Amino acid sequence: MTTRGSNTFYIHTFGCQMNQADSAIITALLQQAGYTPAESEESAGIILLNTCAVRENAVDRIENYLQHFQGLKKRAKGLVVGVAGCIPQYQREEMFSISPAIDFLAGPDTYRTLPSLIEQSRTGGKPTSLEFNSAETYEGIDPVRQGDISAFVPVMRGCNNMCAYCVVPFTRGRERSHPFSAVMGEVEKLVASGYREITLIGQNVNSYHDPEQGMNFASLLDLVSRTAPEARIRFTTSHPKDISEALVRTIADRPNICHHIHLPVQSGSTKIVGRMNRGYTIEEYREKIAMIRSIIPGVALSTDIIAGFCGEQEEDHQATLKLLSDIRFDLAYMFFYSTRPGTLAARTLEDDVPEAVKKQRLQEIIDLQNSISAELFQQSIGSVVEVLAESESKRSTGQLMGRTAGNRAVVFDREGYQPGDLVKVLISAATSATLTGRPE
Ligand code: SAH
Ligand code: SF4
Ligand code: F3S
Repeated sequence: MTTRGSNTFYIHTFGCQMNQADSAIITALLQQAGYTPAESEESAGIILLNTCAVRENAVDRIENYLQHFQGLKKRAKGLVVGVAGCIPQYQREEMFSISPAIDFLAGPDTYRTLPSLIEQSRTGGKPTSLEFNSAETYEGIDPVRQGDISAFVPVMRGCNNMCAYCVVPFTRGRERSHPFSAVMGEVEKLVASGYREITLIGQNVNSYHDPEQGMNFASLLDLVSRTAPEARIRFTTSHPKDISEALVRTIADRPNICHHIHLPVQSGSTKIVGRMNRGYTIEEYREKIAMIRSIIPGVALSTDIIAGFCGEQEEDHQATLKLLSDIRFDLAYMFFYSTRPGTLAARTLEDDVPEAVKKQRLQEIIDLQNSISAELFQQSIGSVVEVLAESESKRSTGQLMGRTAGNRAVVFDREGYQPGDLVKVLISAATSATLTGRPE
């Protein structure tokens, strides 16, 4: 049996980039308190799950995962298991009934209390720290990230949008922007450490508003790109109702901002996006896409789709398929709707699309989008793309894996290049998920 250092910790991160960024903050906070990262879960004295509540299957996954801790805790005396992130914030003390293996709970705004939660757990309590704190942006904490090529930099926390299906406003609380000066300070440190890619993140970056001097997201993005001229700059997520022409022009004007916009539409039916409380019509969405494409020719576009939302009829589903065929997104993240208790939809709308129909519609959406992505990938055979090498390819050390500015995965012959290099790659083959090639 492996020995577990009682002052070592291991974090499992689930969910979105925000949780990944939070895990880097948690690592910093625990290190400050004298704990050290463990090599693996098997050798850790403290295991922390940083969880996601956005869809029912994400929650099921954690519940299944927690089961294996029950046996483990009997064998590993003194092991502390904490659950952090969006699920405990949402389900609160109810979490303890899911698994007796859980020692403590922490929500996204309370990570500064983690050292004390760990100590209290060791003296036999089941402590929780689940208050919202809309002033918390973890200013002054220097995140300890995984990897030294790409970094996520949060520019805001929380969300005020109240999309009817979405649990995020309930798990992350009110929207708050980080001070411009704090974001720039972090970017300067990343530049000094040689990071090659910086992704500014927030649930709705377009509503960024500097609390000190009122600067907007376009100004922030512009200055970040000038401060880190050698790095690729990305950002996510944009909300279609808030994305501005000024922002799109900034992306077009600055050579190191990736020409990629993730613009979740959710459905192709104006009736359904209205019920979702998204704040735009599909005509307006199409106009935004036309504006973006006219200012940034060749821009890569991606989106999120939810199939089978409350009240969705066959004609609404057909409208989603039509929108996908018309716009031809490079990539889409596609889900079937699952009710999240407490949300506007759960309280006011009937979840009336049968599960089999939701899954059938989702499959049609996935099949269509895969064929579009595959066609777009095929079209890039013979072209030269700029790839930021991220790692060795899973299959061979003689190949590197990286991404294009449009976020397409590329595997290419190594030929002396290292992770972190920007490489011009001639594309020779494509599947629906990956391009392959060799340096030009
Ligand atoms: N703030 C981002 C991300 C939200 S969560 C945004 O506004 O785009 C990421 C995606 O999960 C959403 O865009 C949506 O497509 C999906 N999603 C959220 N809640 C869901 C639910 N209850 N059922 C299915 N998919 C959901
Ligand atoms: Fe959820 Fe909507 Fe906020 Fe995105 S913008 S996190 S979908 S409420
Ligand atoms: Fe999930 Fe929380 Fe992110 S619910 S998507 S981890 S904000």
